[in-house]
Formats: sequence, structure tokens, C-alpha cells
Amino acid sequence: MSVKEEVLKLLKENKDSYISGMQIAGKLNISRTAVWKAVKSLNDEGYRITGINKLGYKLDTGNDIISVDGINEFLREDVRSKVCIEAYKTITSTNTELKKRAADEKEWLILVAEEQTLGRGRMNRKFYSPKGTGIYISFLLRPEFPANEALMITTMCAVAVAETIDDLLDAKTQIKWVNDIFYRGKKVCGILTEASINVENLKLDYAIPGIGINVKAPEGGFPDEIKEIAGALVDNDSTLYGDELRNRICARLIEKIYDYYNDFKNKSFMTVYKEKSMLIGQTVYIVSDDTKEPLKVLDVSDNAELIVEHKDGRIEKLSSGEVSVRPL
Ligand code: BTN
Repeated sequence: MSVKEEVLKLLKENKDSYISGMQIAGKLNISRTAVWKAVKSLNDEGYRITGINKLGYKLDTGNDIISVDGINEFLREDVRSKVCIEAYKTITSTNTELKKRAADEKEWLILVAEEQTLGRGRMNRKFYSPKGTGIYISFLLRPEFPANEALMITTMCAVAVAETIDDLLDAKTQIKWVNDIFYRGKKVCGILTEASINVENLKLDYAIPGIGINVKAPEGGFPDEIKEIAGALVDNDSTLYGDELRNRICARLIEKIYDYYNDFKNKSFMTVYKEKSMLIGQTVYIVSDDTKEPLKVLDVSDNAELIVEHKDGRIEKLSSGEVSVRPL
């Protein structure tokens, strides 16, 4: 642990009272200048620390910085020892960077960032990824199952995100087939899974599900082009859910994905997926269909296909890899 991390740990342990520079220096066997430097660099990272002459330092409430230590603090021991997390202040795209490294890295490398400068969404769209308010996270997986099951990874992640939000915020999220999580009528999370197929055995070399969650609304609100649809999990500056909300969300999400993935053959996430599916019972149309034929959504299959009924009574299964639908 670096001096900075040790100072942070002490401040967290003493978060209800002031701890003097001298006490910190004594406990860590370092100089007071080293303490001062560590506090300064924590400040630069965004931690709010109050320093008062003669009293010392105190960590303010409301700190919410994504860090490896911060996530590990909330992560189950068995999972912590299996994953390798890297946290970035800023990155182009956690998916893009992980793809570049996929050939040389082990399964369960996880990249998480506070900001993406080139965040990507499905259908070659951009994914708005401003700093400080969201979570942008990607997982390197090496599934043993055939490539045609890759779509189920997105499904699994959608359930993991939805359950994480419900658990931590006492919320009731819904999943829009197949990769969007909605809360209070707005999209709060999108998932993009990218994969490489080994053509020899039709298995996956790797799959990288990338998840973007709007935890708070960005300062000044969402840009015009997405403001009607995009929403955030909590109101800005809400202290309702305590400190380190983003680290806690990351930790719970990693645990959920880890557990569901290790039990993948049972597809235990499918029950929740169907329960949370916001399209069942609705009428939708296929985005690429100019006639906008209304389709009634009857159910979601065990393979996460949308089971729809045409006007003439014909039943069809739609795969999210092929079509995109919208409520009519
Ligand atoms: C969508 O809504 O179309 C999918 C959005 C996926 C965004 C995440 S954020 C982490 C990862 N990195 C990216 O560039 N995209 C995914």
C-alpha cells in the first residue's frame, strides 16, 4: 500500500473525528511533510478532506471516488482474490482498451473509469461518459461455451446491474430487451458486449461486456440529444445512500457478475430477466422496419429472444443480435 493509500485508510478509520498530522506520521512512521503531501495528492484526486490547525485532518462525508482500494473494501474476499481491477481517472473507452490487451491478459481483468473520452454504445453510437458521475466498467471473460451463446452474457450483465441497483438503492429497475436498464422511466445504464470468435472451434476467444451506469446526473444535465431518455440513479449531492456509492456499486456488480458467470450453465439469471423485462405485454415495432408493423410482445424465451405475435397471428422469435425494437 502506498503512503497515500495508508493515509486514506487512517482517515477512513477515523472518519468521525480529526486526526492530527503528527498522529498520522507516528502511526505510519513517516514525516509530517509526507503526510501533508499525501493529503494534498488525495485532494488532487478529488477527495474532500478538511484540515484545521491544531486539530488535524478529517475526511468529509459525501466522498465518492472510484478506486481499486475503495472497490476492494466492499468486495467479497473470495471474489477479490480472483479478479484484477484497474481504475482510471480517464480512459478512451474501457472496452477499447481491454480489447487491445485481451490477447495477453487473464480472464477477470476488469477496467473501470471515472470518465471515457471515446465511450461507445451499440450500433456504433457514442456513449456519453462524463467524468465524476458515472461508472464505466468492462470485464475480460473467456467463456467455455459456444459463440452463439454470447448474447446471453449481455443478458446476465443486465440482470446483475438491475439487481445491484435494486439492492443498494432499494429501487425497482426494469430491463429493456436486451441491454438497457431503466429506473424511474429513464435509461440509467447501457451494456455493450464485444467478443472475438475462434473460427476453428466456434468458441469465444474472449468476451468483453462493458457497462455504463449514470449514477448521478452530470453537472448542467444530460446533453440535449439524450436528455429525454437518460436518467441517473440518485439526485446530485444526495447523501441518502452514504459515502463511496460508486465503489459499492462496482463491488456488488462484480460479485453478481462473478456468481452468475460461474453458474452460467444454469442460466439462473433468466428468471429475474423475465420478471424485470419491461417489454412483455407491450406493442413494439422493429426499428429497421419502415412499415412499423405493430408486434405484441408475448414473452422472452430462455435464450433471451423476444417472442412476438404479428397482426396475422404468426409467432416469431426475435434475436437482439439481429434486430432492435421500440415501443410503438
Ligand atoms: C448502449 O447503451 O448502447 C451501450 C453502452 C455501453 C457503454 C459502456 S461504458 C463501458 C464500456 N466502454 C464503452 O466504450 N462502452 C461500454
